[in-house]
Amino acid sequence: MIDMKAARLILTSLFAVTICITAAAQLTGTVHVHDNSADGTVIPKEIYGQFSEHLGRCIYDGIWVGKDSPIPNVDGYRLDVLNALKELKVPVLRWPGGCFADDYHWMDGIGPQEKRTSIANNTWGGTMEDNSFGTHEFLNLCELLGCEPYISGNVGSGSVEELAKWVEYMNSDAPSTVADMRRANGREEPWHVKYLGIGNEAWGCGGDMTPEYYSDLFKRYATYLRSYKGERLLKVASGASDYDYNWTEVCMKAIGSRMSAIAVHYYSSLDWNHKGQAAKFDNEGYYTLLAKAVDIENCIRKHISIMDRLDPDGNVDLFVDEWGTWWDVEPGTNPGHLFQQNTMRDAMMAAMTLNIFHKYTRRIKMANIAQVVNVLQSMVLTKGDRMVLTPTYHVFNMYKVHQDAEFIPVETGDNVLTYTSRGAVPELSASASRKDGVLHVSLANPSLDKTQTVKLDWDSFRKDAKVSATVLCSKDIHDFNDFGKEPRVAVKPFTAVRKVAGGVEIEMPAASVVVLEIK
Ligand code: AHR
Repeated sequence: MIDMKAARLILTSLFAVTICITAAAQLTGTVHVHDNSADGTVIPKEIYGQFSEHLGRCIYDGIWVGKDSPIPNVDGYRLDVLNALKELKVPVLRWPGGCFADDYHWMDGIGPQEKRTSIANNTWGGTMEDNSFGTHEFLNLCELLGCEPYISGNVGSGSVEELAKWVEYMNSDAPSTVADMRRANGREEPWHVKYLGIGNEAWGCGGDMTPEYYSDLFKRYATYLRSYKGERLLKVASGASDYDYNWTEVCMKAIGSRMSAIAVHYYSSLDWNHKGQAAKFDNEGYYTLLAKAVDIENCIRKHISIMDRLDPDGNVDLFVDEWGTWWDVEPGTNPGHLFQQNTMRDAMMAAMTLNIFHKYTRRIKMANIAQVVNVLQSMVLTKGDRMVLTPTYHVFNMYKVHQDAEFIPVETGDNVLTYTSRGAVPELSASASRKDGVLHVSLANPSLDKTQTVKLDWDSFRKDAKVSATVLCSKDIHDFNDFGKEPRVAVKPFTAVRKVAGGVEIEMPAASVVVLEIK
């Protein structure tokens, strides 16, 4: 005879099985949430930052359709995308690139629309752009979203004067020629832009420089980029390509605290030359991608240890201002547009990466997934007047509870699920935070064929604690959300949670992400 509680658990597990991968085998895991040992470190909301580049259909088509478009829009911004991003509480948006930034001349994108001239986007497929989305359109979008703008300045093909004037145009309230130009273009008040990237990938598309040369150039630029009334300009240096620790070492020594932050880029794919497709992969392709993704922890640890040695007071922040999965483009799409599908594999990768970022927020103060719409690991994809929310979107939506919450250390076993050619995949990924007295715990079970019974306890456990949860999973790890079809990957309430002595026990489906709220 089974009691009612057990019956309920079985029923709810069955419910979970119907929407997730069916798994016969089982793992067990433990998570201890050390909420009495939290030291006040906050997970900056900027860890949940986004990146928008003039690349493929990210800006044109994805964010901006123009006022005269038949696609429903607010002042030219697509309404569906705008609403989806508002829901995500995007904290910061980087623009205009990427590689595009070092080819962009901001004066082309101001003034009356009909007077703006077109350019070829030479970095990304030579696509013609009419410059209808420029400084005003970007900064007004940030106001609509309630997020901080993060501008990447052109160092590669621009000049100090050009970038200094851009900052003045955006931030000065003086009666100067440049600020008056902004006023003449319809914007009285400065926007008070806080984040300014001095170049992008200076080691590559941003000018192919050595770190020594770039450091000197950074200092030259930084000297003339002023802070105007109302905002201290935070100057961000172009940082390393993933494992290039020498770049960080040289910049930290040569630039030091003249920079507010240094920005590393880290992309995950199976193999740079044979990336494979987003939705076509075998089990090995799944685990190998996750192994490469979680290796970001080793990578950022090493960058942080260099920074700790050279900047023990923590004056310089680490940003990861480009990260995400990078697959071959979808067949039939422009190779220069980097349009890729987004499956439960991408969602799992995002969840595990965010859990890692939380641990290093003492130094990591911003991260920007690439990219927000229609490019690489996007939040939303559009086709004509249709839009889908990707599995990665759902992770960001579930995890937004961690934004600006107090980081809580967690202890999980360090069991390895599997070893791959790119390293190990942990059996369980977890993180926790607390805000306004509410605990949130995010968990990811990467196993493709095993459910996981997780015993979760926390220091301040009370018998009458209220626990609720949501889950993200799908029947097949290759599932993605397609235009005009019922979404296959969606967040659902999760009830396979039962109270046990000192905590709860959770039946995590295979390949699932769960976020618990404990009050
Ligand atoms: O996100 C696509 C490109 O990747 C960016 O433009 C560049 O900075 C990076 O190499």
